[in-house]
Amino acid sequence: MILIIGAGGVGQSIAIRFHELGEAVGLLIRPYQDFAFPFPTWRNLEEVPLSRISIIFLAVRDGQILPLAHILSRQMQQGTLLVHTAGSVPIAVLESVVGRQAGVLYPLQSFTPGRSVQWGAFPIFWEGHPQVEAYAKRLAGTDHQVHHATSEQRLRLHIGAVFTANFTNALLHIADTLARPIGSWQTYLPLLQEVGQKLHMLSPQRAQTGPAKRGDYETLRMHTDYLRQHYPELAPLYEGLTHYILQHLSQSSCQ
Ligand SMILES: NC(=O)c1ccc[n+]([C@@H]2O[C@H](COP(=O)([O-])OP(=O)(O)OC[C@H]3O[C@@H](n4cnc5c(N)ncnc54)[C@H](OP(=O)(O)O)[C@@H]3O)[C@@H](O)[C@H]2O)c1
Repeated sequence: MILIIGAGGVGQSIAIRFHELGEAVGLLIRPYQDFAFPFPTWRNLEEVPLSRISIIFLAVRDGQILPLAHILSRQMQQGTLLVHTAGSVPIAVLESVVGRQAGVLYPLQSFTPGRSVQWGAFPIFWEGHPQVEAYAKRLAGTDHQVHHATSEQRLRLHIGAVFTANFTNALLHIADTLARPIGSWQTYLPLLQEVGQKLHMLSPQRAQTGPAKRGDYETLRMHTDYLRQHYPELAPLYEGLTHYILQHLSQSSCQ
């Protein structure tokens, strides 16, 4: 039986996926949480049939992984695998507690509770015990999205994911502020969609557009002047990203 600990975005998604694949799965949730899942949920570790558990996925916040691993190591059966799902927690953290029974399964996707993801459409990176690769392939439903990554490679992938997903989302929050009252973040969704679609065909360097790419310095000056006057905290952000484009993505940097 598979035990998932933590009913956040990742824990819920993995538990539901394994259940849909016909695996025996159970989810350890917090006593204050109230969910109706079609598989067992427990509110205390003491309720979990640990003798029947072959693998435990720790889908908890990064800082909760080590303390929880110590608690589990005193109660879990010998031979049970202990796996975390974090991008930036080295496998050595779990190996220090359970040795070779440790593993990492990092799905490179954005998970939000209550929202389903399309397994198989995004990569999964694994490390540690060889059986973890098989679990990753089961979740993905395909071999070609499953890759081995060392802890340092995974850290770099995670930083890249923060730039790609978290920063883009935060930038849309800024765009929402600027569009009010005539528009909102939704005004930009067709633009965002086109940027994403283009990247299936073109590199970021080829796909880049905008005043910094073109070298329209007068427009850049207008934008920074406006931000300094009305949203001073946004001006350094605009200038920093513009500097990056001028250095790495503009017409002059491409020559
Ligand atoms: N979300 C993503 O997009 C994403 C993507 C890839 C990887 N990851 C990784 O996946 C892990 C989980 O991320 P998440 O976003 O799903 O986290 P999350 O939304 O914060 O959910 C974690 C859940 O685990 C619960 N929890 C912690 N300790 C527990 C315990 N001992 N027993 C039962 N429940 C416990 C937390 O409850 P409390 O709040 O009460 O502590 C919380 O409900 C992290 O390591 C993260 O780096 C996340």
